[in-house]
Amino acid sequence: MEKIIDENKQGNQLVLDPLKSNTKKLFIESYGCQMNFSDSEIVASILADNGYNTTTNLEDADLVLVNTCSIRDKAEQTVRKRLEKYNAVKRQSNPKMKVGVLGCMAERLKSKFLEEEKIVDLVVGPDAYKDLPNLLSEVEDGRNAVNVILSKDETYGDISPVRLQSNGVTAFVSITRGCDNMCTFCVVPFTRGRERSRDPQSILSEVNDLANKGFKEITLLGQNVDSYLWYGGGLKKDFDKASEMEQVTATNFAALLTLVAEAQPKMRVRFSTSNPQDMKMDVVKTIAKHQNICNYIHLPVQSGSTRILKEMNRQHTREEYMALIDNIRQIIPDCAISQDIITGFPTETEEDHQDTLSLMDYVKYDFGFMFKYSERPGTTASRKLKDDVSEETKKRRLQEIVDLQQKHSAFRTKQFLGKTLEVLIEKTSKKNEDEWSGRTPQNTVTVFPKENYKIGDFVLVKITDCTSATLIGEAVGYS
Ligand code: 5AD
Ligand code: SF4
Repeated sequence: MEKIIDENKQGNQLVLDPLKSNTKKLFIESYGCQMNFSDSEIVASILADNGYNTTTNLEDADLVLVNTCSIRDKAEQTVRKRLEKYNAVKRQSNPKMKVGVLGCMAERLKSKFLEEEKIVDLVVGPDAYKDLPNLLSEVEDGRNAVNVILSKDETYGDISPVRLQSNGVTAFVSITRGCDNMCTFCVVPFTRGRERSRDPQSILSEVNDLANKGFKEITLLGQNVDSYLWYGGGLKKDFDKASEMEQVTATNFAALLTLVAEAQPKMRVRFSTSNPQDMKMDVVKTIAKHQNICNYIHLPVQSGSTRILKEMNRQHTREEYMALIDNIRQIIPDCAISQDIITGFPTETEEDHQDTLSLMDYVKYDFGFMFKYSERPGTTASRKLKDDVSEETKKRRLQEIVDLQQKHSAFRTKQFLGKTLEVLIEKTSKKNEDEWSGRTPQNTVTVFPKENYKIGDFVLVKITDCTSATLIGEAVGYS
């Protein structure tokens, strides 16, 4: 059933709310990775079919759902603070409000959540969202409800997400769920389960639907997109048990990218996240071949030291990573590359840290996301290695990495000075109401005077100035 969409404008944001006849109000917010934001759109869709429209007002909500992240202790603390806030609102002005926790913290803590946080009525793991209507009727009857069962084949491929707080221009499309990599620091394989891929036909129909609704850019999402493999359903690890026919006709990530890029040649295609060990040259060549696949790869390295990479179970060495970078640059010379780096992993020495800095010097990433190691319960690192780098050392090393990245980002943005680049307009610039903000294919944020252009336009922008994070320019016409 096609939902009736009620579109109204709030500032720059289109609020797409389904079914005017829905009477209950859902306040949903997301923390952590893009996958969580995408999952919340699936949840909103499931609940739209069960009487709920979204609200941005906590005081109004019948149901508050928080989609949580467990990746670092700090992320969990942020969620706990939010629960305190809900508690206060419930006590002061909204006694009817029910509170549910979704996502990785729900999966990690399970029913312990109900004991630890009295405000919580409902705990639902990432593979159990279709059970929400049943769980909610339990809650309405005054019982707490928990479902944290992980699935072998759930991909929510049959659910058409409600686009929450959408700019109407860019959207996420999830293509895989879970992760099999078992990096020793990472809680994700425990909270999101084993890796499985979504049917390419359902991905294509979502992309086509977005194009029909006027969206101009999609990001294919997964914990490890390069490992995408559709052979008719089921876990990635069971691929060798599939029939010969299923194996021969399987769709890998390069094939999926081609399908999507060719189905909608006017749409920009991005993807995230790539894992160095799984990123093969066929993917890089596919990016190079299609003008609408953006020349940008988020390629987390985590550390520049082969010894630490081994302790992290990253399945590649420093040299192999550098060779991959060389190959990418050879095939796509203007490809932007970004990183994730963890500093202060157990046993990391000053020499290992220097290896990370020198690897950064080698790659000169366009930008990056840098973190202090945070020990996560249940992971191999927490069981086998002592969190032995002092907080002070972690802090200092992180600062050195962040400073170096800023230098490299500035180096990269300067390379664009004087060039004319295609920018897709997404929103009004935060700093100046009279300017648009958009991104280049390389994912660099670009601002320029609005003139008569509008959100969703592809515009050619001549770059006249820059900071380390932003390009500044003037539009010279449509692209
Ligand atoms: N501590 C710090 N950072 C982590 N990440 C994942 N697990 C941890 C952890 N335990 C980082 C990695 C990953 C990104 C999403 O979060 O860099 O790529
Ligand atoms: Fe975690 Fe590693 Fe999987 Fe990324 S690839 S989600 S860091 S286990």
